[in-house]
Amino acid sequence: MCNSLSVLFTSRGDLLIRLLCVGLGGMGHHDWNAAIDCGGFTAVGGVDIDASSRAAFTDKTGAPAFADFTKALATIDADAALIATPDLFHAPLTLNALDAGLDVICEKPMAETLRDAARMHFGALRGDRMLMVHHQLRWHPSHHEARRRIAGGEIGEVRRMDFHFSVHSDVCLRGYRSQLPHLILQDLAVHHFDLIRYLSGQECDSLYVRDWPAPEAGLDISAATDAIAILNMSGPVTVNYTASIRELLDPVGYTCTAHVHGTEGELAIDGEQLRLQTRTKHADGAEPERITPPVPDPGTWSAFARALETREPTLTHSADNLHSLAMLFAAMESAETGAIVKPVSDWLALLKD
Ligand SMILES: NC(=O)c1ccc[n+]([C@@H]2O[C@H](COP(=O)([O-])OP(=O)(O)OC[C@H]3O[C@@H](n4cnc5c(N)ncnc54)[C@H](O)[C@@H]3O)[C@@H](O)[C@H]2O)c1
Repeated sequence: MCNSLSVLFTSRGDLLIRLLCVGLGGMGHHDWNAAIDCGGFTAVGGVDIDASSRAAFTDKTGAPAFADFTKALATIDADAALIATPDLFHAPLTLNALDAGLDVICEKPMAETLRDAARMHFGALRGDRMLMVHHQLRWHPSHHEARRRIAGGEIGEVRRMDFHFSVHSDVCLRGYRSQLPHLILQDLAVHHFDLIRYLSGQECDSLYVRDWPAPEAGLDISAATDAIAILNMSGPVTVNYTASIRELLDPVGYTCTAHVHGTEGELAIDGEQLRLQTRTKHADGAEPERITPPVPDPGTWSAFARALETREPTLTHSADNLHSLAMLFAAMESAETGAIVKPVSDWLALLKD
């Protein structure tokens, strides 16, 4: 019952993309609201194993909600599926949606194994479907503008990046995240690895990672809450990465901070603000330029809508995202073995095994 001609239109007369929303919890709820708010999507159905999440979705959208994805696919006319379940289900649900002829926007991380991610990517290619991964930080004004300035050569050739993430969060204490052995890497660093690739314009040649659960009096935490990494990007760019979800003093927040050092200057991302200094201006005694980044147009969800209409990949298309996911798996291997690890890049070989 999917991908028949859409009959719903935006106020501009464009087709509204009919979204089947799978996983209606914290992020799923945020995602389908953002999709509707961008003006390009309408929610035509929901799927969740939890009855209260289904009821809340139907209450807000008026659309039916199902406990079973197969039943939803057989009942609802949709153009695309949003997959926002826990990570474990990303691959099977995405593959089902692609088989049913839907385009897919999948939450990060794309899959729980690289092989599954490759099956998802090549499944989408084979069926001529779009598969995009929701790494919305690439569209955050600071990161988007930083990438524009770096790509425009304003700090010369990138040579080094200091990237820091810290929040104080209790996610290591509850829910499926508390069970993830490499929580900080699987849940958060995958965003940052994706951003580091985006900002530097470089792929990762090799990496070395340590992660560990925060030792806290009175708490038994088994999921890794803290990590440090050295990333050797092509270029060559060396990235010094630090992350914690149990930071007490001065957490920098989900936007992160980054200092990007180039041959001709330096760019600092401090939350909502950028600062840029060139060697020439520094030698002249000039103050760094303070930049308030503009909101990118299109934003995350408008970019997804446009990609579905034009069939042109977004910034976080599966073909690109495989490289960020490969960094995550290399990071987990490094954390477990203590070795310097090279991320996988031969996706077809993964499918042969
Ligand atoms: N892009 C981001 O910034 C961001 C932020 C938070 C979470 N996420 C991702 O979103 C996903 C969901 O995280 P969350 O925080 O919303 O979790 P959550 O536990 O709040 O919600 C998950 C929902 O999926 C439902 N569910 C579980 N198994 C299902 C299945 N087989 N079929 C249908 N529904 C099922 C649960 O009942 C729940 O309602 C994760 O993959 C997470 O990594 C992304």
